[in-house]
Amino acid sequence: MKSMYVCQECGYKTTKWLGKCPECGKWNSLIEEVIEKNNKQRLNSFDKLDVYKIDNITVDIQEDRFSSGFLELDRVLGGGFVKGSLVLIGGEPGIGKSTLLLQVASILANNKDVLYISGEEGINQLRLRAKRLNASEKINVLTETNFDIIEQYLEAKKPEFIIIDSIQTMFSSDFSSAPGSVSQVREITLRLMRIAKKYNITTVIVGHVTKDGLIAGPRVLEHMVDCVLYFEGERFNTFRIIRAYKNRFGPTNELGIFEMSDNGLLEIDDASRLFLDDNINSEGRAIFVGIEGTRPLVLEIQALTSTTQFGTPRRTVTGVDYNRCMMLCAVLEKKIGIPLGLQDIYINVIGGFKISETAADLAIISSIASSYKNIPIGNIVLIGEVGLGGEIRGVSNVQRRINEAKKLGFETVIIPKKNIDSIKDTYNIQIIGMNYVSEVLNYIF
Ligand code: TYD
Ligand code: MG
Repeated sequence: MKSMYVCQECGYKTTKWLGKCPECGKWNSLIEEVIEKNNKQRLNSFDKLDVYKIDNITVDIQEDRFSSGFLELDRVLGGGFVKGSLVLIGGEPGIGKSTLLLQVASILANNKDVLYISGEEGINQLRLRAKRLNASEKINVLTETNFDIIEQYLEAKKPEFIIIDSIQTMFSSDFSSAPGSVSQVREITLRLMRIAKKYNITTVIVGHVTKDGLIAGPRVLEHMVDCVLYFEGERFNTFRIIRAYKNRFGPTNELGIFEMSDNGLLEIDDASRLFLDDNINSEGRAIFVGIEGTRPLVLEIQALTSTTQFGTPRRTVTGVDYNRCMMLCAVLEKKIGIPLGLQDIYINVIGGFKISETAADLAIISSIASSYKNIPIGNIVLIGEVGLGGEIRGVSNVQRRINEAKKLGFETVIIPKKNIDSIKDTYNIQIIGMNYVSEVLNYIF
């Protein structure tokens, strides 16, 4: 038996231990795993191989799709599940992956043979959840983590739709490493892939993404599966967003929006409802589109100014850099002429989110001005960095920010004038380029 060190983050293999993975750069991610040698299959004759000419292959992907029961999820999948495809749904624990999938299972069970395999929860826990979601009684549930048994069951019963919740809890006794390690996760996914393609079983795999990344993140799986979806949600508290990061059968820039309620997830088809509630027309609120890693996020910044009661004004800032905000206040005082010296100022990013980009400057400064003037900003997205002279400086990824604003139903975006030439696709959204904060405030108020 041979053992190797395997990076739990990206699957890189080496014979000797290293502190840092040379492939993905992660520290302390290499763990010793026993690597089994397989006997190579030998072909006696190549006649046995099915080699096709491409024009002899007939597949109609559109024909082979079926709805998940949720339009929001169908959109992200590119028009529903493709039969026999392998879909990975990643997300932090507690975000609602099991809830969503049990709801999907419940809808599909009406006309399909659905099997929900749970390695995370016991049967009673599942029953409680199913009751809460008012789920169909037709779902077959298996609480098992031994994949060797699951595999035999699938081979024998060939259900049409299965859910593996989660891949990190499954293990095969062919491997001595722990459940959730790269070897286990990769092996089981490969075997699921084989079964899915052989029997045309649509398979959904749940993968937990952990912050420390010691449990094999679904990143090693991303290359293997047909479709990778991420379920995320810290921004809007009860709101959940599902996005495609990889999709062999559809686009990857779609997003689906849900809301977690007492009876499970509800879809929100009219995305603009999120922001276009009554409060959007209250003062001190500004909308900004940030780029978090590779993901665009629509964020709301709130400011409140009120006359100081006890001597020294209070300045409380959460979610954005304190010094940056103080600089923006100084710009408002000196360049715009808004006297903030005797004002308490509170600044907050909704949903507990943290913004580190300077591209949020314009939204922050406008929210403070809006609160001071008691005039709402309304349905306008503000993007731009602000300099000490009150000028608006260019930012990166403007097109992607605009696309995201459009997707969430906003109609007007103010961006730095310098960026206006880089905009190719306007998507029926009004885009205004501006050079100075004073111009923006004149436009808004
Ligand atoms: P869950 O689906 O268990 O998350 P995951 O599978 O991603 O770990 O969701 C758990 C959270 O959702 C939990 O905090 C309770 C909440 N929840 C509701 O608010 N309403 C519901 O109807 C259900 C079933 C869960
Ligand atoms: Mg779960």
